Amino acid sequence: MSEHEVLISAAKQARENAHAPYSNFRVGAALRAKSGRIFGGCNVENATYGLTLCAERVAIFKAISEGERGFEAIAVVTDSETLTPPCGACRQLIWEFCGDVAVILASLKGKSEVLPMRELFPKPFDASNL
Ligand code: THU
Repeated sequence: MSEHEVLISAAKQARENAHAPYSNFRVGAALRAKSGRIFGGCNVENATYGLTLCAERVAIFKAISEGERGFEAIAVVTDSETLTPPCGACRQLIWEFCGDVAVILASLKGKSEVLPMRELFPKPFDASNL
């Protein structure tokens, strides 16, 4: 298996734990740190809706809270026909912690695409603007 395939597989596994009773849209993410460790995340919804956390941010916060810094790639997996790109809030967070990493989008239907973060988030607001 390639490194990207390993990450997709970890995201699929994380997706199994999705808590998505309101949208029924189950998302899994997996983040590979430069250390080699992989952190999975799933979306965690809430009855208030607005407190929902996306799979990508769960994976990032898990990694950061474990002391990891520096990341190589993130995978996002759903079972939809069209690939699911990270939402705007997640793009901001991915940029902050991961920079211009490879973003691997994959679906359980077998489609996948790899995009550099700079293409998904071309004019970021970040620490360089402060
Ligand atoms: N969601 C994610 O977890 N990641 C994405 O990239 C897109 C959206 C979640 C949030 C919510 O639980 C559900 O998908 C529907 O928006």
